[in-house]
This record gives sequence, structure tokens and C-alpha cells, in this order.
Amino acid sequence: MMERASLAIAALNYVTIEYIGGMRLIKAYNMGSRSFQKFSDTIHEENAVWNEMSRRMGPLYAAFVIIVECGMLFMVPVGGMFFLKGSFSAGIYLLFAFVGSLYFTELRPLQELGSGFAEVLNGLFKAKDILDIPAFEGGGAFPESCGIELRNVRFSYDGKTDALRNCNLKLPAGQKLALVGGSGTGKSTVIQLISRFYDVQEGEVLIGNKNVREIDYETLLKNISVVFQKSFLTRESVLENIRMGSNATLEQVREAARSAQIDAFIMSLPEGYDTKVGSFGSRFSGGEKQRIAIARAILKNAPILILDEATSAADPENQVEIDKAIHNLCCGKTVIIVAHRLSAIRICDQVAVVENQTITCRGTHEEVLECSAYYRKAWMDYETARQMEYRLKGGAAHGE
Ligand SMILES: Nc1ncnc2c1ncn2[C@@H]1O[C@H](COP(=O)(O)OP(=O)(O)OP(=O)(O)O)[C@@H](O)[C@H]1O
Ligand SMILES: [Mg+2]
Repeated sequence: MMERASLAIAALNYVTIEYIGGMRLIKAYNMGSRSFQKFSDTIHEENAVWNEMSRRMGPLYAAFVIIVECGMLFMVPVGGMFFLKGSFSAGIYLLFAFVGSLYFTELRPLQELGSGFAEVLNGLFKAKDILDIPAFEGGGAFPESCGIELRNVRFSYDGKTDALRNCNLKLPAGQKLALVGGSGTGKSTVIQLISRFYDVQEGEVLIGNKNVREIDYETLLKNISVVFQKSFLTRESVLENIRMGSNATLEQVREAARSAQIDAFIMSLPEGYDTKVGSFGSRFSGGEKQRIAIARAILKNAPILILDEATSAADPENQVEIDKAIHNLCCGKTVIIVAHRLSAIRICDQVAVVENQTITCRGTHEEVLECSAYYRKAWMDYETARQMEYRLKGGAAHGE
């Protein structure tokens, strides 16, 4: 029951945060009732868990509390009866009444220990979950070359359904690849396998012709910068969020932030680089958070860069700044970009299409236009949208 209760609390926390964070979006898209449903379902589950817990534990717990709270009520008559029967003397009776009362008051911590014990058990269970995250040990030096390859990769998150299967990819060192494809097709999964957040179930992931399992894990992580789809910021200051535990000086951090087009914004904050980010980066916009994450990656300066573009559209001004930041970040690196906006393809040498849990087509932009119907359609839509944008801009210029 405790396990179900803690899952319910975790879900409730998660949904509450999501709900508060997305309040504007919910209003803007008039999604009130739909998102309320999720919120109210988690509250009902939480409620149901505690109701069931009370029903199951209630009688036992009530008996326990009565014994603890009203112990003297049992002891005085039972002890008195034995005394009257002559089983023991008045002195012993009084002694037991006295010691007994202490004993019952001492049961109170026992009561706390009871509920504490359940929590400890539950905590141990959760700790096991964390310890089960594989710690990769052993492995050798990072290879000379940074070419990336996936060979016949199969991977499943839950061991039942494949997130990727028969997946092949080859990116020579120093080149840039755009991964494109519909939502949920496996793009983020591909990049998580390259940075070995998970191990593949079949096939191989190679860097510089070396299986990632044979590279010392810390060294591997040092040589790969990942900018996630959802930028993760800690509660610390902006400075610490870019520095991320390195010994970089303020000037080095500012240099990275300048390249990421975010220095001027940070300097405009009342406390500049010492400004606290706040819980879940609440005081920054999505675009600003993303540029902070890019500054972090620029400062890390790893030879391999993996960038999962944010799905939510930033406003056009922010987007221009983000594009400049991405351009500075990618200079001279081996790069994989999950491109949600096809404009990112301009800086890439290769395109790979992820469909049906695999990479169906890869090559130059022109080659992929030839071989992938998905890409042809996506590119046509992108071009049409761009033409419309030009016409609108042109129209405005002529005062139409
Ligand atoms: N941590 C996880 N546990 C279980 N399933 C997951 C997990 N992450 C992703 N999946 C599932 O794996 C599949 C591929 O997800 P992935 O995140 O790679 O898609 P994506 O192409 O990056 O989508 P998007 O464009 O929306 O970001 C989806 O069906 C998704 O539900
Ligand atoms: Mg993704």
C-alpha cells in the first residue's frame, strides 16, 4: 500500500507542477477541462489510496491506539482483581501500576516507530530503484576520431515494445547530421543511446570505431555535450547553472554566454550572474533557458555535440538568437541535431529520417528528398510556410 501511496504522491506532485507551469498554455488553447481531468484523476487516486489504507488499517490501528492510550484502564481492574484474589501484595500492585504507566507512555514512540518503519521500508524500495540504474565501470580511453555509428541497433525501454529496431547510422567525424521524423518515432532515443544513457539490447553503438561500452564512462561523458529537448536548470545561480561544477572563471562563463546570445540578458537581471534561477527555472522563458543550456555546452567544449531541439516554438526574436547560439556551438564539432524546425538543416551535411522505430533513409538533403516521402512532404510544408512568411513581410513593406 505504501508503494502505491508514494506513486500517487509522486504523480500528484508531477501533475501539479505541470499544471501550474502550463497554466498560460492551458488558457490559451482553452484546454481547461481536458487538463483538469488529469489533475482531478491524480487527486482521486491519491484520495482512493488513503481511503483504502484507512479501511484496511483502521480497525487494527484503532485497537493499537486504544491499548496505548488507555492502558491504565485495563491494568487497574485486572491488577486489582489479582490483588483481591491475593495473587500479589499491595506493594507489587502499586509498583506495576507505576512502571506500567511508564511502559504505556513509552509505547507512544513505538507507535511512531511503526509508521516510521513503513516509511523506511518504502524508502529502501525506492533506493533500490535508484541503485538499479546501471553504473558503468571499466573501459578504456576515448578514441582519436569522433565518427559516430549505429549498427543494427535494437532497443526497448520496457523490454516489451521496441523503441528502435534494425537501426543503422554512420556519421564521419567533423560532420553534422540532422535527425528528422514525427513525434514519438525515436529521435531522442537515438541520441540517448549514443551518449550511453541506456545500453542497446542488440547491435552496437560505436564512436571512432570503438563500442561505447569499451570507453570509460566518465571519459565518454566528458567528450559529449548534450543539450536536451527540455532544458534542465538547477535552483542555483545562473553562473552555477552554466558552470555546472567546472572551475571556469566568471570571464570564461561570460564568454560562453556571449556566444550563446544570452550574456546581455543575464547582465540586465538585477543580480546579473548571481541571480538565482528558482525552482524549475520558473523565472526564465523557454528560449532563455535553452540559451543558458547552450552556453553550458559551449563552455564544456566537447568534440561531440548532441542537440535535441526544443519542441515548443520560441518567439521569432528568440529563435533568431537561438539559431545564432546553435551556429556558434556547432563550430568544428561532430554534431547530431534533432531538428524539429527544418531551418536547422541549413548547417547540416547529412539528414536521417526516423520512422517506424528505425532510420529509414539517410544522405544529403537532396538524396533524402529523393528517397523519403515523409521528408519530401515535410520539406514542401516548410517551403510553403517560408514563402508565406516572405509574402507577409513583402506585403507589410508595401503597406498592404
Ligand atoms: N523513458 C521512457 N520510458 C518508456 N518509454 C519511453 C521513454 N522515453 C520515450 N519512450 C517511448 O519511446 C518512443 C520514442 O520516443 P522518443 O522520445 O525517442 O521520440 P521522439 O522522436 O524524440 O519524439 P518527439 O519528437 O516528440 O520528441 C515513444 O513511443 C515514447 O513513448
Ligand atoms: Mg524527442
